[in-house]
Amino acid sequence: MLEVTLAILKPHLIKNPVSMEIVQKRILNEGFKIVNSKIYRLTQEDAEKFYAEHKSKFFYNRLVTSMISGPSGIYVLAKENAIKHWRELMGPTKVYKAQFDNPHSIRGELGLSDTRNATHGSDSPESARREIEILFPEFNLDKWYKEE
Ligand code: CMP
Repeated sequence: MLEVTLAILKPHLIKNPVSMEIVQKRILNEGFKIVNSKIYRLTQEDAEKFYAEHKSKFFYNRLVTSMISGPSGIYVLAKENAIKHWRELMGPTKVYKAQFDNPHSIRGELGLSDTRNATHGSDSPESARREIEILFPEFNLDKWYKEE
């Protein structure tokens, strides 16, 4: 089934143009279509809304601070099973686990810490819709599906 996911190349990653290019090439080589993209610095409000489910976690403040520290590369990606495929390409959330279990994953190669773990990807179709609405408020997902 054709699916979309919201991918973020986090601020520490896009600070390095070579890392950014490596990940962009990987996105295209793996057959994703880039439906929408922008370089955008999340505001405090965006980051708090985006990560609301983590508000009670010990890493929440660190995560929000890191995500607003500079621009991110933000993408709506489409392909069959886009959500699962992108999460597989990213590897595990925790970087030590990514380096150990899947060293060639994006997080295994480019993650610096559990917070600065290179990339984000939606974990379900509902999350993808919610996250796209936050970061691409002008993008009409329903219309896009109908037109395909
Ligand atoms: P992301 O995919 O952006 O979604 C939630 C983020 O919380 C996750 O990537 C990590 O950056 C961060 N995160 C999750 N678990 C931890 C943790 N144990 N320590 C620090 N940050 C974490």
